[in-house]
Amino acid sequence: MYCNRIDGPRRGRSFDSMNSNFEEKQLNELNKSSYCKDEDNKDNKDYSSERGRAALVFSLKNEVGGLVKALRLFQEKHVNLLHIESRKSKRRNSEFEIFLDCDSNNEQLNEIIQLLKSHVNVVTMNPADKSCVPEDDMENVPWFPKKISDLDKCANRVLLYGSDLDADHPGFKDNVYRKRRKYFADLAMTYKHGDPIPRIEFTEEEIKTWGTVFRELNKLYPTHACREYIQHLPLLMKHSGFREDNIPQLEDVSNFLKEQTGFIIRPVAGYLSPRDFLAGLAFRVFHCTQYVRHSSEPLYTPEPDTCHELLGHVPLLAEPSFAQFSQEIGLASLGASDEAVLKLATCYFFTVEFGLCKQDGQLRAYGAGLLSSISELKHALSDNANVKPFDPEITCKQECIITTFQDVYFFSESFEEAKEKMREFAKTIKRPFSVRYNPYTQSVDILKDTKSITNVVKELRHELDIISDALNRMNKHLGV
Ligand SMILES: [Fe+2]
Repeated sequence: MYCNRIDGPRRGRSFDSMNSNFEEKQLNELNKSSYCKDEDNKDNKDYSSERGRAALVFSLKNEVGGLVKALRLFQEKHVNLLHIESRKSKRRNSEFEIFLDCDSNNEQLNEIIQLLKSHVNVVTMNPADKSCVPEDDMENVPWFPKKISDLDKCANRVLLYGSDLDADHPGFKDNVYRKRRKYFADLAMTYKHGDPIPRIEFTEEEIKTWGTVFRELNKLYPTHACREYIQHLPLLMKHSGFREDNIPQLEDVSNFLKEQTGFIIRPVAGYLSPRDFLAGLAFRVFHCTQYVRHSSEPLYTPEPDTCHELLGHVPLLAEPSFAQFSQEIGLASLGASDEAVLKLATCYFFTVEFGLCKQDGQLRAYGAGLLSSISELKHALSDNANVKPFDPEITCKQECIITTFQDVYFFSESFEEAKEKMREFAKTIKRPFSVRYNPYTQSVDILKDTKSITNVVKELRHELDIISDALNRMNKHLGV
């Protein structure tokens, strides 16, 4: 897996008021319009002359008579305006945007749009216009997996280690260990999405190493680990073979996590690039190493090993709010620039790997790099550690240290708080589209045109219907 180091409101409806419902109206009208379009497609009938409501948004230069010129076009085409609102443009300070709801047919609308284009900047319109991000903008977007099986194309791009070890690695001179590492690397490199994760017959030496790590860390968890970690670890002991004398099988752990949060595990040979590792999170796939650190230094490893993955990461991946937080970092990374991915990876590093949280007035660890390192877990919660509130804008600029303890640790009040901050931060990342995870197809929907956005609106309306129905039933039941 990727990890740099282990061990370690609303106003009056006056014509020129800015209505906070503006975007909502756009969505509502978009939805109505798209419904008509879908019906058109059903029987291939030409409905171009049929009348219906249509929504249009255009920006207007802040000049005398500008709006009158635009509206006169509707009058000349005998199009009835049903609703109109304005707001200051979010794109250009000197301009105003007009939201307009009218009664027209497609033919009239297209004519008006063409005429409007010479006077104003048409921002969006109903889906019949097929508004979308220009293809040129999409060409500059780095490749990213669109569906879960696409991870097969990037999960083997291991940057470091794999079966090769650096000269300062504890197992560098141990040929038996190096041969064993090649065995694990080959298993991971031939793995394809959907395969069961190979079960490993661990050696006595590997189990002894795991046992030492397991035993020593479990002494610290009651006083150092966050509440959620302490809740989930016993479940893993009960259902997934977490014991001092047993190294859990990744397949069993993956099945457990799938039931808890939908996360699954995928074996990996070693370090992935931040982009490839974060991409996995977008699909709720966590890349895990399966080998065990060298037995000569059971409490130290210069790279992620299965002890780090299982004891550091897995218990929190069983926590729904943490799983969502992890996935959102992943989704934000898809198709982002190298610079943006680096910022996201740094935020990931100081949260998922080295994050702290405040619970009952005390700092606790939730970062996997801490929860799998006896020495740094003690240090991070000691008076010697420099601890600051998690703020993605600041955290993303912090240096990730890979040779010793971190200079600074960041704490959040809760995973929900961290998630909200990351959501706001993700909005600042430049990308000509948004993505939305589709759990039914285990793929990402790319939201870059009115059609794709309309589909999301439809789904959201269905979800709201379910909530409304549930509330009605509850109220009836309670006699409210
Ligand atoms: Fe990690």
